[in-house]
Amino acid sequence: MVLVTGGVGYIGSHTVVELLNENYEVVIVDNLCNSSMLVLDRIRKITNKEFKFYNLDVTDKNSLKIVFEENDIDSIIHFAALKAVGESVEKPLEYYKNNIVGALVVFDLMKEYNVNNFVFSSSATVYGKPESCPIREDFSLSTTNPYGATKLMIEDIMRDLSRANKNLNLAILRYFNPIGAHISGIIGEEPKGIPNNLMPYITKVAIGQLKELNVFGDDYDTPDGTGVRDYIHVVDLAKGHLAALKKLKEKPGLVTYNLGTGQGYSVLDLVKSFENVSHINIPYKITDRRPGDIGMCYADPTKAYKELGWKAEFGIERMCEDSWRWQSNNPKGYEENSELLDMITSEI
Ligand code: NAD
Ligand code: UD1
Repeated sequence: MVLVTGGVGYIGSHTVVELLNENYEVVIVDNLCNSSMLVLDRIRKITNKEFKFYNLDVTDKNSLKIVFEENDIDSIIHFAALKAVGESVEKPLEYYKNNIVGALVVFDLMKEYNVNNFVFSSSATVYGKPESCPIREDFSLSTTNPYGATKLMIEDIMRDLSRANKNLNLAILRYFNPIGAHISGIIGEEPKGIPNNLMPYITKVAIGQLKELNVFGDDYDTPDGTGVRDYIHVVDLAKGHLAALKKLKEKPGLVTYNLGTGQGYSVLDLVKSFENVSHINIPYKITDRRPGDIGMCYADPTKAYKELGWKAEFGIERMCEDSWRWQSNNPKGYEENSELLDMITSEI
């Protein structure tokens, strides 16, 4: 059985769908601090499969212990974390407490219950300001904000745990920029308030909830001057977790992989692709750079391909299409009423 912490969230829910599709037994733990209970039903609707769910906080060891007691867990995918960079600068203690303590509690229980397989959601943010692109896994690591620091600290803890216990099989997955949604259009990304990230901001402009996109700088050393990123379809990313789980069965010890496409797109490229597939004009204005941003960030995903046999399949247009389907079917995210959900899902 696979324990998925944070399995109700954006990447977690898509990963649970892929796990269920591949007939894994799944138990989800999530305290719903950044997700909606409605996701659970939608996962069931997509997969027609059952799974277990516990509404609890992974930093609460006594509660999480019950999950280990009641289920025969052999692997863990640990998504549960707070993830907003700006908020982490304002509330560092919350981030260190939630993300670091959460991971420590999980590691503790793995030891107590002899669970040896663990997959961790890391981020391209651990490369700080990369020396060049594409970025390989052996590039130097650094961080510039508390969120990034929690990712790097947990990676460091994993490296120490692996040195101390050769029975552990640990995968560090460094995600680049996940966008898109499941093709059903009934699960997707739902940021609270005004989105910080580019794709959700674009879809909110497209649906008329925001007036125009602010493009944060056009004077970077990139082809059109705007920031370049490695956008990856969330379903491709989800499948990377299944590939990692399979790898862990070979008992490799600690492994680290970039999960990206290897392809960089600028802000204006993404706007153009979105306009092409949605046939909606996205008004934008160029503003100052966002503090802390880097110009260019894209992966060298060769290692994941060689060692996991995994590579991203979906291109940028499909990512835009699926993000748009999710947003236009769910203009208020998961607040939508269930009648509409029934209408949409009857067509799947
Ligand atoms: P998300 O916020 O949608 O999902 C995280 C889930 O964890 C949420 O459902 C939240 O309720 C839950 N959670 C948080 N703290 C918890 C706690 N203490 N106990 C139980 N549940 C808790 O975020 P996401 O985009 O799906 O990200 C998943 C993971 O991937 C995170 O660790 C994030 O840092 C990492 N990551 C995300 C991105 C990205 O761009 N989305 C990029 C790199 C890494
Ligand atoms: C985000 C995270 C980072 C994480 C990375 C990969 C933030 C601040 N950083 O960064 O920690 O590792 O995803 O998941 O959330 N942009 C605009 N206008 C907008 C929003 C963004 O022009 O309204 C630009 C940015 O300057 C950047 C690009 O779009 O060039 C992508 O931005 P974003 O989606 O926030 O992702 P990252 O900056 O890569």
